[in-house]
Amino acid sequence: MLGPTRSGKTSSIIIPNLLMTSDACVVTSTKDDVVTTMARTRRDVATLLFDPSGTVATPEGVTRVGYTPLRQAQRWDGAVLVARTLLDVSRRNVERAEDHWSERAGALLAPLLHAAALHGEPLGQLATRVDERRVDDLGDVLVAHHGDHHASVATLRGVLATEERERSSIWSTAAGLFAGLRTDAARAASLEPLVDLDAFLAGGHHLHVVSPSRHQAVATPLVVGLIDEIVHATYERHRDGGRLLLALDELANVAPLPRLTSIVSEGGGQGVVTLACLQDLSQARARWGAGADGLLSLFPSTLVFPGIADRSTLEAVERLGGREFVASPTVHRDHRGRARSLSSGWVERTRVTASDVARGRPGHALALSATNDLRWVALTPYYADPLLTRHHERSRALSRDLER
Ligand SMILES: Nc1ncnc2c1ncn2[C@@H]1O[C@H](COP(=O)(O)OP(=O)(O)OP(=O)(O)O)[C@@H](O)[C@H]1O
Ligand SMILES: [Mg+2]
Repeated sequence: MLGPTRSGKTSSIIIPNLLMTSDACVVTSTKDDVVTTMARTRRDVATLLFDPSGTVATPEGVTRVGYTPLRQAQRWDGAVLVARTLLDVSRRNVERAEDHWSERAGALLAPLLHAAALHGEPLGQLATRVDERRVDDLGDVLVAHHGDHHASVATLRGVLATEERERSSIWSTAAGLFAGLRTDAARAASLEPLVDLDAFLAGGHHLHVVSPSRHQAVATPLVVGLIDEIVHATYERHRDGGRLLLALDELANVAPLPRLTSIVSEGGGQGVVTLACLQDLSQARARWGAGADGLLSLFPSTLVFPGIADRSTLEAVERLGGREFVASPTVHRDHRGRARSLSSGWVERTRVTASDVARGRPGHALALSATNDLRWVALTPYYADPLLTRHHERSRALSRDLER
């Protein structure tokens, strides 16, 4: 979805989808408008809130949840994924080549995370350990758990066996990667009850990640880590019916997922459907660089709301719309101007011009699909649609009954 502020992305697409889906949902937002509305309506499922900035009031009927990367790190493969996520978040743009130090720092962090998780060491203690460059007995923890020949043991030994100066650079890079987990926000988030992933996916519950833009720098590693964990849990449970709707409102501001491309392209076949909102592509370019131009072709469908001003976004939508041939009849007239014959030719033209897109049609969005279908669809804001209003009202009545 591309649309400026107040164009209807939340009320016409995100909320109606959340009202009607039976899949589990993860919803990101910079404001608490969606979680407040959903807590009042979908009383048939749990409404959970992850608030990494610790600044969002908890609406009635909402349960707060936390996150710690150490849960995923209980398994070696999970620890490798967590280290990978920290690397990706720090690089911001996964298209850029990875440097030697980051790769080595990731190789150090994965076994440390795994050992700390096995040992039951809290996140804060692990952060201190990384700052003080102490491995202590964590190597023994890995050997005790996996034996001498496991990949985690070999990886840790490999890093620790490097020459002194190189090792020192690896530790300082690792401390940089860990910065996102050394915050008070991360410590606080690791102390709240975690999402029970099995129950969450099986029950089709909703998790709202609300993170005001000004807290983004601190919250990003946590938000990205939590979403990554739930996406992977869905992949693992997909054969047993695990399904997830990932509604990323304010994509570039709250959830700049470094691996968005693979979640969108591979997720569809593994139970994860992604709905993403951006004001325009310039927001995405600031985040993903040149890769942002590929965003439009990555998603199977694009909805464009009226009022976009960014020139290059409008031109990208015009290109996506493609060209068409239209019949162009020509009337041939005699010297008195009387029609004598009719011939027809074809002219090629763009299906939708940049100015058509900018102007839009009131109450409509332009829908473009991968199969080259192009149409103007009427928007139905949840508060104006009889069916959705009924759902809304019924849920409210239900919630009043429950309260009584
Ligand atoms: N419950 C409601 N009743 C009436 N109008 C509403 C309601 N909720 C939202 N609106 C109006 O609908 C319009 C679209 O709002 P919406 O929040 O869906 O836009 P948006 O594209 O998500 O904007 P943003 O990018 O700022 O989040 C706004 O003009 C808003 O005032
Ligand atoms: Mg919105």
